[in-house]
Amino acid sequence: MKILAIETSCDETGVAVLEVKNGKFKIKNNLISSQVKLHQKYGGVHPSLAKREHQKNLPLLIKKVSHNKIDLIGVTTGPGLDPCLWVGVNFAKDLAKKLKTPLVPVNHIEAHILANFINRGLSSIKFPAVCLVVSGGHTQLILMKGIGKYRILGETRDDAAGECFDKVARILGLGYPGGPAVAEQARQYSLKIKNLKLKISLPRPMIHQKNYDFSFSGLKTAVLYDFKNRKPKERRSKKYIQAMCHEAQQAIIDVLIKKTLKAAKNYKAKSIILGGGVVANNELRKQFKEKTEKEIPYCKTELPFMEARGKMRTKFSSPIYIPASELCTDNALMAGVAAYFNRGKKKNWKKIKADANLRIDTKI
Ligand code: KG4
Ligand code: ZN
Repeated sequence: MKILAIETSCDETGVAVLEVKNGKFKIKNNLISSQVKLHQKYGGVHPSLAKREHQKNLPLLIKKVSHNKIDLIGVTTGPGLDPCLWVGVNFAKDLAKKLKTPLVPVNHIEAHILANFINRGLSSIKFPAVCLVVSGGHTQLILMKGIGKYRILGETRDDAAGECFDKVARILGLGYPGGPAVAEQARQYSLKIKNLKLKISLPRPMIHQKNYDFSFSGLKTAVLYDFKNRKPKERRSKKYIQAMCHEAQQAIIDVLIKKTLKAAKNYKAKSIILGGGVVANNELRKQFKEKTEKEIPYCKTELPFMEARGKMRTKFSSPIYIPASELCTDNALMAGVAAYFNRGKKKNWKKIKADANLRIDTKI
């Protein structure tokens, strides 16, 4: 089966073609046209500019992939930015009509989760699983009883974790997108930690609460207060910026790991699945693997852990599934995988709509 997928939920225009053969996904094309440079001057995504860019880039990307023998078209219908989603949806409808191909609506959050199946056998992940999806727009802990069976256990009550990274970066003058910039400054701090006397302490919001909800807007405010209370010379110094990035990143990581592992223990999860742009963060990936192995002994299995890139590890590890970094941030490949698993829900192109607030526990 050959699938063409389209993703335009935020600021990346994505088109991918993949083939499913012998229980494996074979990647034919995975094209992304990033709008990062355009949005940099606004310090965040500007929806109407993003819409215009998707309209310009989508036809160019589609021309670069083969339309031959496509069995299914998948398109992200939500959640995301409404004007951006509609560009992809309308484009996919026209294409489905032209190619006389069925169209499958894709939930963007489910696509982030299912990105873990790329380069892995289709039956490799065991359920129930606890999934953490952390992106620029969402922070959700989801109990997954199987593909298509989701229950949201908790989510952010205000800012998403990625949004917090972006806002901290903006306060410190590091530009957009904030995640990679904050991560790099934090790494610099770690390299010289022994020589640095500056130590900043930020709160870990809701870390000890019984529920599975999150809150990151207070953390951003704590960064802002600390920043404003410093003398201008100090707050512009490398030393301060690096120490602040290190502490803000660690505060976010601590909360995400604590709540995810608590849910995994309580629901006796057989797998932990991560997804979303924030999971591209190297420190988060490393600490998640270490803490899962340490704190969830029943998760340790004799199954060899496969890196998303397909390399077999010699060491046995806990079943925590983390996509390759480039598949954590928005891409159409994951939408193609989600379209495959939802192929039973293919609809006539006339019936497909965008839904900016689509939830993973709602049937499309
Ligand atoms: O999933 P994604 O590409 O788009 C949405 O669906 O929102 O996530 C984008 C978010 C941004 O907030 C960005 O700052 C964050 O992911 N991000 C990171 C890293 N790379 C991207 N956050 C922390 N560390 C990173 N290395
Ligand atoms: Zn996303």
